[in-house]
Amino acid sequence: MKPIIAIDGPAAAGKGTLARRIASTLGLPYLDTGLLYRAVGRRVLDAGGDPADAASADAAARSLRPEDLDRSDLRGPQADAAAASVASIPGVRAALLDFQRDFAVQDGAVLDGRDIGTVIFPNAQAKLFVTAGLSERARRRWLELRGKGLEADILTVEEDMRQRDAKDAARAAAPLKAADDAYQLDTSTMDAEAAFQVALAFIRTRIGMI
Ligand code: DC
Repeated sequence: MKPIIAIDGPAAAGKGTLARRIASTLGLPYLDTGLLYRAVGRRVLDAGGDPADAASADAAARSLRPEDLDRSDLRGPQADAAAASVASIPGVRAALLDFQRDFAVQDGAVLDGRDIGTVIFPNAQAKLFVTAGLSERARRRWLELRGKGLEADILTVEEDMRQRDAKDAARAAAPLKAADDAYQLDTSTMDAEAAFQVALAFIRTRIGMI
């Protein structure tokens, strides 16, 4: 059976960059599951609805199509907030569960998110929980926004992130937390290359691939 690798953690801890590189190194498909919640939030906004309203968010999640993940407006503060709201609604999480499991069923996969190792794939062959300190994560997100030519105030970015972390960790439905058997990787003082090397070494011990 092809391996399933779960990479969870808070925003801007470096899990997306890491997961993409692990996937291409091991020849596995990659899914950024945050995009699913972003696309659901965006659909609710498009319909003029409130992302915190369960009925609107459930309907948007049930009618999600793969091409919704290719939209160019899934990043930025409005999409961040809408995604965090829909992600706390149990019906939305249930609707997206099959999408995520189907994605990995045939060829295995690397998935990054918040609940991959705890809820979506509790039997994943390798689980990583990637973290970094709040101010370092805010700095990375701020640099990313600036790189895209977007104006941002670093303290506002940090405060938005702090609130979103709190919302992700406090929600009743699949709160952000490390699986008991996850390898905890703190990237606060690591660059992307160092994080990749540590993660790959761990994954190899679990799945025995080159
Ligand atoms: O990783 P991200 O910033 O793109 O995630 C967007 C939002 O969706 C964030 O509030 C956390 C939530 N999310 C989730 O609840 N479960 C996942 N598997 C992935 C993201």
